[in-house]
Amino acid sequence: MKILGIESSCDETAAAVVENGRTALSGVVASQVEVHALYGGVVPEIASRAHTEALCGVVNGALDGAGLTVNDIDAIAVTYAPGLIGALLTGLSFAKGLSYSTGKPLVPVHHIRGHIAANYISSPDLKPPFIALVVSGGHTSLIKVEDYTKFTTIGVTRDDAAGEAFDKAARVLGLPYPGGAAMDALASEGDKGRFRFTIGRVHDAEYDFSFSGLKTAVINLAHTLTARGEKIEGQLKADIAASFTAAAVTTVCRGVERLYEDGERLPLVLSGGVAANSHLRAALKALTEKYGVGFYVPPLSLCGDNAKMIAAQGYYEFISGARAPLSQNAFACMEA
Ligand code: KG4
Ligand code: ZN
Repeated sequence: MKILGIESSCDETAAAVVENGRTALSGVVASQVEVHALYGGVVPEIASRAHTEALCGVVNGALDGAGLTVNDIDAIAVTYAPGLIGALLTGLSFAKGLSYSTGKPLVPVHHIRGHIAANYISSPDLKPPFIALVVSGGHTSLIKVEDYTKFTTIGVTRDDAAGEAFDKAARVLGLPYPGGAAMDALASEGDKGRFRFTIGRVHDAEYDFSFSGLKTAVINLAHTLTARGEKIEGQLKADIAASFTAAAVTTVCRGVERLYEDGERLPLVLSGGVAANSHLRAALKALTEKYGVGFYVPPLSLCGDNAKMIAAQGYYEFISGARAPLSQNAFACMEA
């Protein structure tokens, strides 16, 4: 069964064809990063307009790449939530039009479920149940995946997502947008023990995460050092990056470790843009080895937003009977 996936929740316009939820036949991602870099972050209205311009070419590119026409497709899977509402609506409206004009079924896919499904492509042996850790620019969630379409949330961030903290820290260090990858490299050159950041803790929900305190702390540190006349460059800059990254990694790992300490023995499956972080990957690998559980993580190309992951999850939603009517709406929030 061949599923065409369409993704437009943030600043990547993406389309892909995936067979039986596991084999990617094609994948195209048109990134808007250069446009948004001018503003230091994603500008929603610009994102929507850029998606509208790119969608036709990206979808055609995915079909051509797979050597197929839309007639060969069994269903169209599209991200309907969560994300920027205008951005989501462009992809959803395009998919609805394609579904209406071709008679192909339309399948709604939740973006976070999609991130998790990226692992079905890179790890063909992976099957639920497992524990999913989704760390991205907009979300940080610990989820029990009981079956392909049955999810129970164990913990979420109470404020900022991990990626938001990485991006803001990168900004105060003067790194180019988006800063995640540059922070990762810089952190490898620094002394992580030089600055001690308090680790965010949520007292009434032990599996929840909090990143806003860490984000504020790194911004305050940069401002204080600058006010003292110190230039944030060279070794100082690398040491801040390393100390911040160590604190962010500990914040993510704390909730996960608590879960395994409490007796969980299902494998851990990492995903989302921040899953590309080498320090986080290494820490979670060590953590899962300590508890003797499996650890799955997608290659870098499947960590950030893409449509292969939407088509992969779309397959499982499709065979479980999920269908989007033409009245299907988009939703900005996570709970949709
Ligand atoms: O999953 P994604 O592409 O978009 C959302 O659904 O949010 O995640 C993007 C986020 C950005 O915040 C970006 O800075 C971060 O992932 N990121 C990283 C790394 N590569 C990307 N954060 C830390 N280390 C990285 N190597
Ligand atoms: Zn995402």
